[in-house]
Amino acid sequence: MKLLVIGSGGREHALVWKLAQSPHPTRMWCAPGNAGIAAERLASNVALVECVPVSAEDLPALLDFAKRERPDLTVVGPDNSLAAGVVDLFQAHGFKIWGPNQKAAQFEASKAFSQDFMERHGIPTAKSGTFAEPVAAKKFAASLDGRCAVKADGLALGKGVLLTTNVREAEQAVDEIMVSKAFGAAGQRVVIQELIEGMEISLHALCDGKVAKLFPTAQDHKRALDGDAGLNTGGMGTYSPAPFLTDTQLTEVGDAILKPWLRGCAADNIDFRGLIYPGVMLTKSGPKVLEFNARFGDPETQVYLTRLESDLVELLLASCEGRLAGIELKWSTAASVCVVMASGGYPGNYAKEKVITGIGEADALPGTKVFHAGTALKDGHVVTSGGRVLGLTAWRPTLAAARDAAYAAVDKIRFEGAQFRRDIAAKALRA
Ligand code: AMP
Ligand code: GLY
Repeated sequence: MKLLVIGSGGREHALVWKLAQSPHPTRMWCAPGNAGIAAERLASNVALVECVPVSAEDLPALLDFAKRERPDLTVVGPDNSLAAGVVDLFQAHGFKIWGPNQKAAQFEASKAFSQDFMERHGIPTAKSGTFAEPVAAKKFAASLDGRCAVKADGLALGKGVLLTTNVREAEQAVDEIMVSKAFGAAGQRVVIQELIEGMEISLHALCDGKVAKLFPTAQDHKRALDGDAGLNTGGMGTYSPAPFLTDTQLTEVGDAILKPWLRGCAADNIDFRGLIYPGVMLTKSGPKVLEFNARFGDPETQVYLTRLESDLVELLLASCEGRLAGIELKWSTAASVCVVMASGGYPGNYAKEKVITGIGEADALPGTKVFHAGTALKDGHVVTSGGRVLGLTAWRPTLAAARDAAYAAVDKIRFEGAQFRRDIAAKALRA
């Protein structure tokens, strides 16, 4: 079968890598892809994956491509394409496509939508309010003594959340989002949550509109610097499994969130076929959902897919076709660790087109994979082209060994200004 993958990040490289291992695809494209994706080969016939210069957000061009090449399945990586309705568009033209439709993608595209949904359907979350004008927002923030998470309603590249610990900071955050429009139209409304404390974990569940199959645990490291200091980023590293929940506790937490979520989807006529990713805080009074994403996490995907033993093409087809009930997801007992190497200055401004060396050597290490994120080919060299550049991922029988192996791969890589955290998985190893 012919497969089209939409996106260009580390998540998409991991998706392509895993999909390419399936015996089913005989041709695969990625729009637009990156330098690492362009070097992947299909297990069925060793054909290279073909990167096509079509942006993940250019829906008309994606549809034109699909009409020309007629993929049997399209797999969507990024939130923007989903929020823009790529799934509805492809379906309207008779193409099979994996990912939530535009209505279902609102779980990520609108924090106000998600918060209202959680409150109506009894999903444990933080105390919160949604506001369309700053005076009322500030009044609510003051009622929380300014200890808040102030969130732009819409998509903001993972940057639209400001954490505040006093009333003055909270008022500034409201002004930044609603008055200065720091995140553009995403800040038309704000959601303000009480600040809650605990251990944060990522949950992923694959859904087919009726059932949700929970993945093992993973933990991301969102801050730029060691010790969770510095600015929020898209994610600087992940590991799986996270030791803060036993298998039984994971099932309980999953049920507490996903059972009311599925009931709510049915009640509200939301046909969610795709990946639901709740960001969860484990608090003293139980798990609380901070937000929903409606796609695979990045860099969670890199650690999940290096542990997944099931055929990903078959799983995504089952998710599209409402057939997940009878299907079991098989995971290796190995631990996996992904360390992100980013451009100097990320998540702020950074230079591009720095030559990267050592990728081949790192990739040659056993149980190790270099997932590309912001990379491109220039004059025969792999160069940097984005904030997050590479995800050095290694899997081993123990978390400590996986961590050491991921950093051994980091040691092989050189590019000017490279920046990475040295404490990925350290919290778990201390626990
Ligand atoms: P979000 O994009 O909504 O997950 O928020 C980004 C990050 O801000 C999360 O990963 C948390 O670390 C933090 N955060 C969000 N909401 C809260 C909250 N209510 N209390 C404490 N931290 C939060
Ligand atoms: N790992 C954070 C995200 O994908 O949103």
